[in-house]
Amino acid sequence: MTNLRTISQIIEPQYVIEGAGVLLRRSITPHKSNLFDPFLLFDHFAFNDPIEGPIRGFPMHPHRGIETVTYMLEGSTHHRDSLGNEGVISKGDVQWMTSGRGILHEEMPRRGPSGKIYGFQLWVNLPKRLKMTEPRYQEVNAESIPTYEKDGVSIRVVAGKVNKVLGPVTEIAASPLYIDIQIAPDQEFIQPIPSEHTLIAYVFEGEAVFSGQTIEAVRMVKFDDGESIRVKTENSPVRFMLMSGAPFKEPVAPYGPFVMNTMDEIQQTLIELRNGTFIKS
Ligand code: CO
Repeated sequence: MTNLRTISQIIEPQYVIEGAGVLLRRSITPHKSNLFDPFLLFDHFAFNDPIEGPIRGFPMHPHRGIETVTYMLEGSTHHRDSLGNEGVISKGDVQWMTSGRGILHEEMPRRGPSGKIYGFQLWVNLPKRLKMTEPRYQEVNAESIPTYEKDGVSIRVVAGKVNKVLGPVTEIAASPLYIDIQIAPDQEFIQPIPSEHTLIAYVFEGEAVFSGQTIEAVRMVKFDDGESIRVKTENSPVRFMLMSGAPFKEPVAPYGPFVMNTMDEIQQTLIELRNGTFIKS
C-alpha cells in the first residue's frame, strides 16, 4: 500500500456576490498566506433558482499574473476580451486562460435548455518568470475531453493523466491535474498524485469516503502530502472535481483580479491601468 493522502482541511463554500451581482459559492480566495499554492480561488456558479431573476455576469475586468479555468456543466458563458478573442464556453467545455501580463475580458453566463447555469472557475497562479508572459487561451470543446471509464468510475480528463488517458490542456506551469470524477455506489478509485503537489477536491454531488472520512456535497477538501488518494463510495454515488498542482513557493500579492509577487508590482499594474498602458500588444 502506498502512502495515502489524508484530509487536512474541510471547507464549506461561502455565498458571495461578484461581478455585476452574481451570486456564487466560493471556497478558496486569493490570500497572501497562499495556503493552496498554486491554486488561488475556486468559485461555483449555480443559478438554478428562477426567483433570482435576470442573469447577471462579469462585465469587462482585467486580469494579470494568473490563469483562470472556466468549466461549464449546464448553460454557457459568452466570453470576449481586449485582444479580440470572442467565443462561447458551452456545456462540457473548458477554457484555460493564461492572463500573463494582462487582458481585459467580459464573462456573461447564459442559461441552458434546462434553465440552469452550473459551472466552476478556478484560478491557478503563475510563477514569477511567467507573470508577464503573453496571454494565451486553451479552449477545449466537450467532445475533445477524453473520458476514462472503468468499473463504475467515469472521469473527464481536462489536464494531467488518469491511467493512460491524457488531458488536452498542456504546457501549464503548475503541471496540474484537473479532472471531473463520477463514481457509482459501492466502488473504489485510487489515483496517484506527485507527492509534493497540492491536492484539493470539490465534492458537488452525492458523498464518498476520502481516506476514511465521509464527505458530503458541497465541500472543498484539502489533503496532506502523500503518493495517492483513495475514494470509496457506499450507498450513494459521488461527483467531484479533483485538482492537483506543483506549488511555486513564491510570495503572492493578491489585489482583486491581479495576483503578483510584490505590492510594488500591484502598484505598477494600477498605474498602467490608469494611464492606458495595461494592455500590451
Ligand atoms: Co475574469
